[in-house]
Amino acid sequence: MRPYGADAARKSADVIRPLIGDAIPEIAIVLGSGLGGLVSDVQQPATIPYNQVPDFPDVAIAGHAGKLVVGTIAGKVVAVFAGRFHAYEGYPLQLTAFPIRVAHALGAKTLFVSNAAGGVNTDFKAGELMVIEDHLNLTFASPLTGASEPGEVRFPDMSDAYDPRLRGTLHKAAGKLRLTLRGGIYAMLPGPAYETPAEVKMLRTLGADAVGMSTVPEVTMARMLGMRVAGISCITNLAAGIEKTPLDHSEVLAITASVALQFQALVREFISLA
Ligand code: HPA
Repeated sequence: MRPYGADAARKSADVIRPLIGDAIPEIAIVLGSGLGGLVSDVQQPATIPYNQVPDFPDVAIAGHAGKLVVGTIAGKVVAVFAGRFHAYEGYPLQLTAFPIRVAHALGAKTLFVSNAAGGVNTDFKAGELMVIEDHLNLTFASPLTGASEPGEVRFPDMSDAYDPRLRGTLHKAAGKLRLTLRGGIYAMLPGPAYETPAEVKMLRTLGADAVGMSTVPEVTMARMLGMRVAGISCITNLAAGIEKTPLDHSEVLAITASVALQFQALVREFISLA
């Protein structure tokens, strides 16, 4: 069996299914650093610690929980991944995207991704939310590297990777809540060091609005599997060099805490409209 491949995902899904009463999740949600509070919105939750899922490693980064919560939000069945596997932890990209394979094997047709990100666009402020409109994969690596699996797409199309209709739904949800919602391009770098000011300048030249260390492998996998994708970046700080102060993970978490409630409200409204 291929590590973190389609068969491995089916095996993990087979373990999860009896633990969630055979519920079929409609939307898989990946929560970024500090955004774990959304799990409290899940009704009739079944909670599965990651260490009970075959091939899932334990999650050890501050701000990441390490559990899968399946239940309903606004009457729709959701599978919420609280905690993700990052490339900077030394995990292969196939593993960073493995939860998406598992969600797909459980029946999810839509992926909602979220992350904490640095603002590259100088119009952005810390504490704002950004709809991801497109991304730059600056890792130049892919979770799809390797022999292609039977029946899977070798060269997936990545135009409109972030579904235009779902982006519209996010703006509609934000409008209802009177929330300011930015839109822009997310660039993924491998990390774990934050960017240098020169790199941030480069990112701006390349057209990036926000920068982070996740999300792109998951979205690439979801698109290969034919899932629709929506994504939100929580702008926790302005990227290096824009402000005088050095970047610090605990500050990232503190700002995330202050926008987490807005994020939660947005996701709830989005799910009810989606
Ligand atoms: N850069 C990269 N990743 C991040 C940042 C940043 O400034 N803030 C939160 N995640």
